[in-house]
Amino acid sequence: MKIISVVGARPNFMKIAPFIRAIEEYNSSGPDETIEHTLVHTGQHYDDRMSKAFFKALNIPDADINLGIGSGTHAEQVGQTMIAFEKVVKDIEPDWVVVVGDVNATLACSVTAKKENVKCCHIEAGLRSGDMTMPEEINRLVTDRLSDLLLIPDKLSGENLKKEGASERSVVFVGNIMIDTLDANLAKAKDISIEEIINKNYLIESAAQKKVEDNFAVLTLHRPSNVDEKEILTPIVNFLCDEVAEDMPLIWTVHPRTQKQLKLFGLWEKVTSAENIILLHPLSYHEMLRLNMDAKIMLTDSGGLQEECTVLGTPCITLRWNTERPITLRQHGGASVIVGNNIKRIREEYQKTLLLDRTPTRPKLWDGQTAHRCLDAIISFNK
Ligand code: UD1
Repeated sequence: MKIISVVGARPNFMKIAPFIRAIEEYNSSGPDETIEHTLVHTGQHYDDRMSKAFFKALNIPDADINLGIGSGTHAEQVGQTMIAFEKVVKDIEPDWVVVVGDVNATLACSVTAKKENVKCCHIEAGLRSGDMTMPEEINRLVTDRLSDLLLIPDKLSGENLKKEGASERSVVFVGNIMIDTLDANLAKAKDISIEEIINKNYLIESAAQKKVEDNFAVLTLHRPSNVDEKEILTPIVNFLCDEVAEDMPLIWTVHPRTQKQLKLFGLWEKVTSAENIILLHPLSYHEMLRLNMDAKIMLTDSGGLQEECTVLGTPCITLRWNTERPITLRQHGGASVIVGNNIKRIREEYQKTLLLDRTPTRPKLWDGQTAHRCLDAIISFNK
């Protein structure tokens, strides 16, 4: 059997790593027919810190093919990926194309696979935020509508797919593949010191002298809905500098998009001169995990971090108006609460969250064994 799996952007790498390992283990178990696997990187993320570092840290083999797409508008990224990926599919003639998550690579390659009449499997299917202004929601909807095999991380996702008319046969509950990676890397992350993380990754030299002990907050912010408009980003930055950083050191790992916007809106000076804010480059997988293991509070607009906070128990506030991952919310047993970008609401929930203890929870099948179930579902699809 021939499988092409696709990655494009940072959140894909931790999802594909265990899947590739599952294929390797399957092939070395002496099956009747081995799997011929090709890894395609669309090249959407290309900075070493956003891409190469993850391949290395997670032992992902070098991509067999890199489409070199890079940055651009959505139509440019999706269009160029489709043109380049079509050639790959025609050349390799795979039985399956496996896509993960909800980035532009996921959409572009699932559409291309189906146009070439190749079966498509979506790992992390069925997530829905209901927010059509999110590029990821469009990517999820289209990919799921087209995929032959929908591998879901939780039962709520299965309900979404059922409502949309997905056939029962196409949906398989496998659990959350990101947690395979988390479990496999906890011990290594534990060995890193916070001081080392700051010294290796500071954006501004003065951060090297900053000391962080037990009580610290971690922030990540990159969604266009938070960072692309001055009227939204400015009050968030004021809240972070004038309130959160007054309470405790705030470690902020700055996404390239966010750095660009802070400079554009004249906010860079404010964040770089704030005494208690430690600005870091995007971190490696293990470094981020290490911070998450000890953070007093996580403030984020990332979906993946909400999930990791749930398993680690880190009290989290999600700077979004909705989430495609309701299982990570406190009302469903998770660690997070949605606060949008209204400062009054952020402040209220931030203060409540500070009072919470770390309470790890594991939704069903978030057990570190999801990748094997994904591969089993593909292998048994035609049987
Ligand atoms: C993408 C995903 C998003 C995911 C995020 C994680 C889509 C639609 N969005 O958003 O779901 O949460 O990745 O990071 O696929 N840039 C660099 N170096 C890079 C990559 C990007 O400097 O290696 C800069 C460029 O200026 C680029 C901007 O960041 O224009 C945004 O990158 P892009 O890949 O378009 O989207 P992300 O915001 O990273």
